[in-house]
Amino acid sequence: MIRYPGVTTKLVILLGNPLGHSISPPMHNRVFEKLGMDYCYMPVEVTGKNLQKVFSGLSKMNVAGFNVTVPHKIDIIESLDELDPLAATIGAVNTIVVKNGKTKGYNTDGEGFIRSFEEETHDTVKGKRFFLLGCGGAARAIAMTLAFHGAEKIYIYNRTPAKAVGLAEEINKKIRSCTKVVGQSLENQRTAIAGCDVLINSTSIGMHPRADELPIDNSLISPDLIVADIVYNPLMTKLLRTAKDKGCTIVPGLGMLIYQGAAAFKLFTGTDPLIEEMSEAAHSLMASKQ
Ligand code: ATR
Repeated sequence: MIRYPGVTTKLVILLGNPLGHSISPPMHNRVFEKLGMDYCYMPVEVTGKNLQKVFSGLSKMNVAGFNVTVPHKIDIIESLDELDPLAATIGAVNTIVVKNGKTKGYNTDGEGFIRSFEEETHDTVKGKRFFLLGCGGAARAIAMTLAFHGAEKIYIYNRTPAKAVGLAEEINKKIRSCTKVVGQSLENQRTAIAGCDVLINSTSIGMHPRADELPIDNSLISPDLIVADIVYNPLMTKLLRTAKDKGCTIVPGLGMLIYQGAAAFKLFTGTDPLIEEMSEAAHSLMASKQ
């Protein structure tokens, strides 16, 4: 049965541009409906020019919180009353809670990755050594959160090395000295990976429609590695398929999306979401796109 929002309905707003591809609205709305909660999750496309005005207006409505996505995760910070320490360290916000008229920003992207990792591997990130491919916004949240949660070492490799140097220095300074930049040659990559437990692809390589690409040389994927991808379209990337064929434990990208949403849901409502419902909504939406 479709339930329409009424005057008592608490809104959760997704701000970004474009939002046509987002699976967050059905993921949250499905759980609100299952739990009989009077909430509604609504996507609002907004350009950078109007971001402040739209955010300021919406936050004065009956709003429990916001999710923020590309391209506003950094720019939204200046409009907030408060910032959670991890979000401040990452320098980007994807979740905002509105309470007593005050807005507080969080970042659940890295937490989402860690929770997904722990669910898939039945292990913790503490004390593990990571090889991180890529250096964009997602990589930044993941690397900072891993450092925050006690990763032993994070090797960072990026096509544009200067960005890797910048991120590594920032983590070493702001959190603790646990990162190292990997040189561009295959041998440099091989040496670093040989000392790692986990390989994470945080680049867009392998994403639909270029689904036949690997972000790393095939020979560097050894069976003892845990291999994680943040790409979730396709659900099983070439990297994940290759790794699985070699016997690696794999961590598919959709999990990060589901668990960052679950962490945000808890922040908005104070209630634990139904992970299975969120996961089913996410998977059925992705299946309809394949
Ligand atoms: P997101 O916010 O989703 O992480 P992003 O900020 O655009 O996206 O970052 C994309 C990452 O994928 C970057 O590390 C990018 O490398 P550069 O810093 O050199 O641009 C990496 N990337 C994207 N396409 C790539 C390609 N074809 N080869 C190597 N790296 C690539």
